Amino acid sequence: MQSLITVELPENPYQVLISPGVLASLAEHLQTLRLGRKILVVTNPTLQRHYGQQVVTSLEAQGFSVGVCILPAGERYKTLRSVQKIYDAALDQQLERSSTLVALGGGVVGDMAGFAAATWLRGIGVVQVPTSLLAMVDASIGGKTGVNHPRGKNLIGAFHQPRLVVIDPQVLKTLPRREFRAGMAEVIKYGVVWDQTLFTHLEAQSRLDNLLTPEALQVVLTRSCTAKAQIVGQDEREAGLRAILNYGHTIGHALESLTNYRLINHGEAVALGMGLAGELALKLGLWDQTSYQRQQTLLERAGLAIPMPTGLEPQAVLACLQTDKKVMAGRVRFVLPTGLGSAIVTDQVPRDLVEQLLVNHLGA
Ligand code: GLY
Repeated sequence: MQSLITVELPENPYQVLISPGVLASLAEHLQTLRLGRKILVVTNPTLQRHYGQQVVTSLEAQGFSVGVCILPAGERYKTLRSVQKIYDAALDQQLERSSTLVALGGGVVGDMAGFAAATWLRGIGVVQVPTSLLAMVDASIGGKTGVNHPRGKNLIGAFHQPRLVVIDPQVLKTLPRREFRAGMAEVIKYGVVWDQTLFTHLEAQSRLDNLLTPEALQVVLTRSCTAKAQIVGQDEREAGLRAILNYGHTIGHALESLTNYRLINHGEAVALGMGLAGELALKLGLWDQTSYQRQQTLLERAGLAIPMPTGLEPQAVLACLQTDKKVMAGRVRFVLPTGLGSAIVTDQVPRDLVEQLLVNHLGA
């Protein structure tokens, strides 16, 4: 089983390779890119323990000179300080312009390694080897890299497309279930905003956790990565279309940030945000009750019917929406579904409607 998807960008097209067991032959796939000899693998302690040695051995067997930089795991370490550690390792290994970083990890590792690659010697290559479902279907593709500022998520960053994305679905076996569910929120998102066939494929599965059959998982990954590749291929710098990937993220980000990123993870916040944005779309007559209900059923079946965090003030959420990166000329922009498989970005959502929705779900 193997899928090869091309991200069609005019200046730097690249491929996303999805194949069970591909980690063992990572080095052979890197050979085809004609990279320089030096590679720095960036990872975290858990992944180093599970897969680090296998990756290093395979790269060295193909003649690469390999260094490893192990960063602490977790969103709170997605900082310039951690990136500094990558720069230190790059210096120690005397990386050159032709050298490559290999990001072996979830979104945090991928974002930081991508940012270090974007900035080291004004830009060296990066190969993304995502190990979480969320990173496989979203963060590893599209070139968004960066770190958090103490006062805001992803405020420091750069667009830097990878040379290749290598996805081994077998590594999901070691992914904690809660993290798998978080990735499923993004998968369901693609089904709602872009790919109705993916949505019905998900509906047809008897289970939606990491015991999904390998064949079903291959379809899920292939269709999700294809959706991301198509959207990024049409709008690399998020001038328009790419913003639909933020479905569920507008209110979701506010919930995440007001609970200090501790109570709910990103995927859970997105799932809650999709429920609320779906309800707004219903009230505005953009989609029908059946479509909304199908979305909610799928989220529930994926273990994402989580309760709304308690103790949040609707007014605080409204204020937080105003700081969203998508606010334009003071107006909050929402991504709203117009059916299963399509969505729009609009700033024409009356504030009263949003306020009422929040009061209904959070209490006055
Ligand atoms: N994660 C949304 C994007 O890459 O645009």
